[in-house]
Amino acid sequence: MNKIGIFYGSTTGNTRDVTLKLYEALGKNQAEMHDIRETTASDMQAYDKIVFSVSTWGTGDLQDDWEEFFPSLNSIDFNGKTVAIMALGDQQNYPDNFVDCMRPLAEKVIERGGRIVGETPTEGYTFSASKAVQSKRFLGLVIDEDNQANMTTSRIHDWVEVIKQAMQ
Ligand SMILES: Cc1cc2nc3c(=O)[nH]c(=O)nc-3n(C[C@H](O)[C@H](O)[C@H](O)COP(=O)(O)O)c2cc1C
Repeated sequence: MNKIGIFYGSTTGNTRDVTLKLYEALGKNQAEMHDIRETTASDMQAYDKIVFSVSTWGTGDLQDDWEEFFPSLNSIDFNGKTVAIMALGDQQNYPDNFVDCMRPLAEKVIERGGRIVGETPTEGYTFSASKAVQSKRFLGLVIDEDNQANMTTSRIHDWVEVIKQAMQ
C-alpha cells in the first residue's frame, strides 16, 4: 500500500492527540491511523511506509499497548519498508530515560530488514541520558507534551517534510 500507516499507542491520550496532528499534517488522504490495540501483524505488513507513534512509561519502557504488540513485530518482514518513529516523553521528570522506548523499536525494525528514517537533532531538549540517541541524533521525532507542548505543532510540520522525502 502506498499510503503511510500510522500505528499509535497512548495511555493518557497525549500520543493519540499528537498522532492526530501528525495524521492531519501528512494529509488525511496520504495516511491511515491505527490504534495499536486493534492492530494485527498482517495489518502492519500491508504498508511499505510506516510510522510508529508511542509514549514512554515505567523507566524508559514502551507504552503498555505497544509493549503487548512488540512480539508481533517478529512476524513482520520489514524488507523494503521504511519506518519513522515518533516518541513522547518527559525530559524534566525522566531525564535519565528520556524517550528510551525508541531504541527497541528501531532495533527490531532493522533486525527484521527495515530502514529507519526521520532522525532529528537533540538541540532544544534538556536531558541527561537517552537510549534514543545515536550519533548525537534522536532515532526519530521526540515530542514532550509535559514541558514543551507549544513546540509540538512546528516540530511535527518540520518532521513531516523530512519523512515524506525519505519515504519516497
Ligand atoms: C508513571 C510514568 C512514567 C513515565 N516514564 C517516562 C520515562 O521513563 N521516560 C520518558 O521520557 N517519559 C516518561 N513518562 C512521560 C510520558 O511518556 C508522557 O507523559 C507522555 O506524554 C504520555 O503519553 P500518553 O498519554 O500517550 O501515554 C512517564 C510518565 C508517567 C506518568
